[in-house]
Amino acid sequence: MGKNSPIGIFDSGVGGLTVAHALNTLLPAERMIYYGDTAHLPYGDKSKDTIVQYSLGIADFLLKQKCKVILIACNSASANAFDEVKAHVGDRAVVMNVIDPVVKYVCSETDSVSSVGIIGTKATIDSGTYEKKIAAASVHCSGGSATGLSPRLQVSSLATPLFVPMIEEGFVFDDISNAIIRSYLSRKELEGIESLILGCTHYPIIRNQISRFFNFEVNVHDTSQIIALAVQKFLTEQGLLSSKRAGIDLFYVSDTTPYFEFIANMFFTKKIHLEKKSIWK
Ligand code: DGL
Repeated sequence: MGKNSPIGIFDSGVGGLTVAHALNTLLPAERMIYYGDTAHLPYGDKSKDTIVQYSLGIADFLLKQKCKVILIACNSASANAFDEVKAHVGDRAVVMNVIDPVVKYVCSETDSVSSVGIIGTKATIDSGTYEKKIAAASVHCSGGSATGLSPRLQVSSLATPLFVPMIEEGFVFDDISNAIIRSYLSRKELEGIESLILGCTHYPIIRNQISRFFNFEVNVHDTSQIIALAVQKFLTEQGLLSSKRAGIDLFYVSDTTPYFEFIANMFFTKKIHLEKKSIWK
């Protein structure tokens, strides 16, 4: 695998396309191979064991495509299967998740006591992964700020499981989605937050709507952009940036319907073709 090999990206379905789109905009010379496990979505209400099993299967598929990087563009899989995928892949490719870059960004931009909220699927929030990683980042820098990470983040999290089906059914910027957003985001867990992490790759679709709910007084992080910038930094530092685009992007899914194709365009903001590729026995 060389620097002109593709970047493999996977998600439970089409949500990871928000990350793929940010990456494609920032790094147009990088070729992407996307895999959306639409036959098994959602991952957000599955057990860790099941998410690990699916993630390893997709990692094997992306390895066969000779990907230099495997980016887990799903918070539920990043929270529950990152260590397992990384151990399984070994030195055959670099494995990245969507949680570490966001934790690093949020910790480094905070230099005073700050209260951050996290919203995501049940699988992500119940895993406690964001809290653990933020705590580890804070310990790492306690006694000094050599790394620029703040030990003073107060973290609160809330599972918002209705957001994924709501977005996938096209309920965005309307009364129904406003009511659901209001119902979740006015819960006491998120009282007084100064910034919010969108811990699900579907949520960038409703980022503006969420900002508006908070009267633009809460910093709703642009997680897709943060992740794309982290991938760019990593590839640059490792000398792995592609020097020329080696083929077209491919978007595979484990199951497809005309509706998936339709909403994929909403997530990627331009027309893409989803190709069915069954990797499951
Ligand atoms: N996009 C997935 C994530 O970031 C959520 C969708 C699902 O539950 O499968 O967690």
